[in-house]
Amino acid sequence: MAGLGALVHIPFNRPFMTGDELRYIAQAHADGHLAGDGQFTRQCSAWLERQIGCRKALLTHSCTAALEMAAILADVGPGDEVIMPSYTFVSTANAFVLRGATPVFVDIRADTLNIDESRIEAAITPRTRAIVPVHYAGVGCEMDAIMAIAERHGLIVIEDAAQGMMSTYKGRPLGGIGHMAALSFHETKNIISGEGGALLVNDARFCDRAEVIREKGTNRSQFFRGQVDKYTWVDMGSSFLPSEIVAAFLWAQMAKAVDITRRRLDIWSTYHERLAERASALGIRLPVVPAECDHNAHMYYLVLPALGARTSFIDHLKSHSISAVFHYVPLHSSPFGRKVGRANGDMPVTANVGERLVRLPLWIGLERYQADVIAKIIDAAEEACADVKATGNHAN
Ligand SMILES: Cc1ncc(COP(=O)(O)O)c(C=O)c1O
Repeated sequence: MAGLGALVHIPFNRPFMTGDELRYIAQAHADGHLAGDGQFTRQCSAWLERQIGCRKALLTHSCTAALEMAAILADVGPGDEVIMPSYTFVSTANAFVLRGATPVFVDIRADTLNIDESRIEAAITPRTRAIVPVHYAGVGCEMDAIMAIAERHGLIVIEDAAQGMMSTYKGRPLGGIGHMAALSFHETKNIISGEGGALLVNDARFCDRAEVIREKGTNRSQFFRGQVDKYTWVDMGSSFLPSEIVAAFLWAQMAKAVDITRRRLDIWSTYHERLAERASALGIRLPVVPAECDHNAHMYYLVLPALGARTSFIDHLKSHSISAVFHYVPLHSSPFGRKVGRANGDMPVTANVGERLVRLPLWIGLERYQADVIAKIIDAAEEACADVKATGNHAN
């Protein structure tokens, strides 16, 4: 096992390359098809449709773009409300705010940190149009309950599965359960293309329009399939499709998705096993994965006892050249979130976790250093918790 002395710095993330990316990009180059929707895009879409069992998978240039498409497809507009967690990335909310809708934030569960399904119904008003569950850390939300609520109230469910590629809930792939879903292939995710994403459509009524919106509001795709005799402007839309260069990169990753997930799971499990004992003694909480969820090891996080302990923990690790990072500033308490959204009920878990959660480095290749990294993490946790005890900083 290599010692940390030999390594300058342990970054939080290091994009994994399978080794086939440049070969496929060279192939796209040689084929002379560089714009979107060529052979590599078709291969990636077909793979996603098989893997997730969705009706249609459309590559986009980001998960943000896929969420924006979903917001258009859901016909969300000014005065409408969309229910989502506050503990999420800004794109979950921005996509709907761009259409003039109001994000309505609901607290998260204390175990998975996913939207608390038992609080959703209380947030529904006559203006509610959609629910956006976010599968935090690649662990599935309680989708049976969420889909049942949506059905009772005639709402559309858009899964923010940015972190959920290769995870399942009750055996069903994340992204294949709601009416629509959005995936991310950003370089911080498990399967990557630098920037990238996909809109997954599970409800047939959205399929045709999704294609049009992605193609600048034109029926170009139908025209190329010979289904219409003129290529023209038929709806609103934008340029949401990635180039073949990006799809070629992504294809190299998809071909190795099972292996990538397995390798990440090994690293995740090593953290989980080796940190359990000390974490429990120090009052640090580790991730919880319900029995009905198979996860993809997107993230390994710790919930420290207090904000002061988290700050001190991150600083201690930094002094050993290990990057650990926190997120999210809850959207309901952010400057723009306060202006355009509202919290439904109080948000104790969100506020608490927003101050205490820290993410540990997790990338393929870390295995070589992980024993040393874990030793440093335990030292840092002990020092951080002792610092907090000494200063009486037990905010939570
Ligand atoms: C929950 C969530 N939603 C949306 C996004 C946006 O993804 P992208 O960077 O592909 O637009 C992210 C990215 O981190 C995310 O974590």
